[in-house]
Amino acid sequence: MLYLRKRPDKYSKKAKYEGYRSRAAYKLLQINKKFNLFHENQTIIDLCGAPGGFSQIARDQTEGRAKIFLIDLARVKPIPNITGIIKGDITKLTTVHRLQESLEQSGAHKNEIIVLSDCSPNVSGHWVTDHARQVYLAEVSLGIANYFLAEKFLTKVFQGEYLEELIQKIRTFYQNVKAFKPPTSRKQSAETYIIATKRKDIGTIQHNQNYLILDE
Ligand SMILES: C[S@@+](CC[C@H](N)C(=O)[O-])C[C@H]1O[C@@H](n2cnc3c(N)ncnc32)[C@H](O)[C@@H]1O
Repeated sequence: MLYLRKRPDKYSKKAKYEGYRSRAAYKLLQINKKFNLFHENQTIIDLCGAPGGFSQIARDQTEGRAKIFLIDLARVKPIPNITGIIKGDITKLTTVHRLQESLEQSGAHKNEIIVLSDCSPNVSGHWVTDHARQVYLAEVSLGIANYFLAEKFLTKVFQGEYLEELIQKIRTFYQNVKAFKPPTSRKQSAETYIIATKRKDIGTIQHNQNYLILDE
């Protein structure tokens, strides 16, 4: 399959003009307008957050009062009023432990936690493979949300055969689970977002690595 470089559209231009690092910022803004996810006393974990558009929106929507941690494989330039930036692979337990340490050092672990995940794998061009890799990253993100007992969980997913199974897994842990494709998401893109709120009190979830789906 031939991948063409995406042309800058109105959201890319708007992001540049308004000082957001990515057009993805507007996806989160539109999701938040509909689902009202953020408040000031939260800790926000932004998985796969480079270059930082989601974190910037989360910061602005909480008037700089929430504690925000961004994790990505890529190096991210400092963002004002973001509590921590970690360069790491979210599928590695060491990264999760580094995140835990940062949360504890800043007292952020005591707040209500929301996990955002906007992960995209390096696309191979083979659709089934790319879908499976992306769903894997979304599942790892769910594992991290469970590890931190996050009250809310938002994840991007590429639509395809494993999507329904993932939604069922998310339903195990959250009462309200909705799918939403924000207007900024390109029509031809297979991505959509799952928004999960009201963590279920199922009693068996511990801060225990068994609830992570990680490869080490
Ligand atoms: C679409 S971008 C995220 C855009 C971001 N939400 C924003 O608002 O600017 C997807 C990101 O997933 C990251 N990623 C993919 N696999 C990862 C992994 N295993 N661990 C950490 N980051 C990963 C990539 O490095 C990339 O920066």
